[in-house]
Amino acid sequence: MPIYSEELLNEIISQNDIIDYVSQYVRLKKNGRDYTGLCPFHNEKSPSFHVNQEKQLFHCFGCGAGGNIVQFVMKSEGLDFVEAIKLMADRAGIPLPEENDAAGDVLYRKKQRIYLMNKTAARFYYETLTKSHDGKPGLEYFAERRISGRTITKYGLGYAPDSFDYLKSHMNENGFKDDELIEAGLCVTKNNKVYDKFRGRVIFPIIDLRGNVIAFGGRIIKNTDTTSDGYKPPKYLNSSDTPVFNKGNNLFSLNFAKKTAEKQCILCEGYMDVISVCQAGVTNITATLGTALTESQARLLMKYTGEILLCYDSDEAGQRATKRAISIINGVGGRCRVMKLKGAKDPDEYIKANGVELFRRVMQDALPSTQFLLSVIKSRYDLDNPDGRIKFVQESASVLAKLQNAIEIDEYVNRISDETEIAKDAIYAELKKLKASVKIKTGPLRTIKTEQSAKRAGDDSKIISAQRRLLSLIIESKKNYRAVKDEFSPEDFSTDALQKLASAVYSAYENGEHIDPALIISHFSGSDADVVSKIFCNLETYNDENNTVAQLLQSIKSDRLNEKILNEKDAVKLRELLIQRQKLEGKK
Ligand code: CTP
Ligand code: MN
Repeated sequence: MPIYSEELLNEIISQNDIIDYVSQYVRLKKNGRDYTGLCPFHNEKSPSFHVNQEKQLFHCFGCGAGGNIVQFVMKSEGLDFVEAIKLMADRAGIPLPEENDAAGDVLYRKKQRIYLMNKTAARFYYETLTKSHDGKPGLEYFAERRISGRTITKYGLGYAPDSFDYLKSHMNENGFKDDELIEAGLCVTKNNKVYDKFRGRVIFPIIDLRGNVIAFGGRIIKNTDTTSDGYKPPKYLNSSDTPVFNKGNNLFSLNFAKKTAEKQCILCEGYMDVISVCQAGVTNITATLGTALTESQARLLMKYTGEILLCYDSDEAGQRATKRAISIINGVGGRCRVMKLKGAKDPDEYIKANGVELFRRVMQDALPSTQFLLSVIKSRYDLDNPDGRIKFVQESASVLAKLQNAIEIDEYVNRISDETEIAKDAIYAELKKLKASVKIKTGPLRTIKTEQSAKRAGDDSKIISAQRRLLSLIIESKKNYRAVKDEFSPEDFSTDALQKLASAVYSAYENGEHIDPALIISHFSGSDADVVSKIFCNLETYNDENNTVAQLLQSIKSDRLNEKILNEKDAVKLRELLIQRQKLEGKK
């Protein structure tokens, strides 16, 4: 069995999102702090399967199964640990070391190095724009587009002067070598020469959810015509994919948008759209990175919002892209509506011309995606003419055939029937024909009955269950930890799993480290992982937490004492224990 370093395993776990993965197989619904759904590991009618995004854990309160993403993959796909790790690494684009080599660590270091290069470059572009004379053309450009100084700072916008080595020399001076700059996508080679990728462009840093600069977009600031050798530089230039960046997996400004996007989030096409709309006060907006929307981006966005509002350019290409985006979003189980910008090419133009109030109204008035698709079809046919009506109904039926909800389908069938005077039954007949030809997708998920589900109910002795609750509370807050740590140490817990978990948690607190459930749980397997996930995913709430901690502690200590008393054969020691018990009870 290959041995993967702890660092590499952590990287693999943190680069795969559990909600993202699980929702391929389980229909998850946001429910308070957790996502819930029907457990894939046992048969149930009401959802007791919980997934927690923050903790990156799942736990089923029905059958008791639980763990992190790797453990989910093992259980659901029936894979062993190494196979599951391979699958997850592959999914995140992380190459695994060949047996016994340290490629994983090499990659990890390389990525850290690229993050550092990107950060250094972003700061340099920003300072060039805001503090250097060389940045003047960039500042003039942003002023012309009515981008404020505050917005420049918020987004860390920058400027790359029109020079072949403006960035390169700065980076070289800071110890970054040419081949590193190429690997990070900051420089390119041509005719054996290394030069800056971004020249004469304003710079938009692309930042991931953890705050790392992962790539750049650059917009040309001069209207350039085709040069004499027939070359016309593209209006926008984006970093190519690198070990830390994949265009199809990230969204522009999601790091800001996610804070206000719980109900809905706008998805548009351009960096300038996002920035301009955001500057006007609508902050739940994000954009793709110069390519069409991918499934992975749709899933990513859906983790942060209940509803996507598509706001693409109003031209023909934008409308085509809207249709594609709807199909991608619906395909991964998301809901979206479509905003209609009247008299403007894109959100940036619209909000500048009409102001934020009207823009918000356009958000409110956004059409549900089905209604949008039907209206597009309708606009192409003449409903006064029988042939037009028939084609309209046929094409509309193919839109409706993809819907799941019968009430929704009926609503639209009614409308179409009213509009065309074609009988509802005839429309339904058309739908039935189409539906029969749609193959039902089946996922690779197997329903595995865990043996544990049978014996689960009675196996928590009172003493252990109190210890688990206490440990949940300790994990919940450092305050609780402080109240317990001197009175009850990891070795005092009754089972190996609880001792091991407690010692990981205690030492994280002592070292001032963040408690990362998904990483801690990777040290547990089988039913121990189930127990640990239950402790992390504890759903109990307490009116008076301090008091609960004190009571649990008291009862656990007295249980332990009673256990000792029962087992003690030495009369002197027994007397001591009995005195201890008297003291403890006196405290109550
Ligand atoms: N884009 C690109 N390459 C191009 C043109 C566009 O990658 N040659 C991407 C960029 O991500 C850009 C988005 O497509 O942000 C939208 O392009 P477009 O509608 O042309 O630009 P706007 O956002 O309207 O930009 P601007 O207002 O600056 O012209
Ligand atoms: Mn524009």
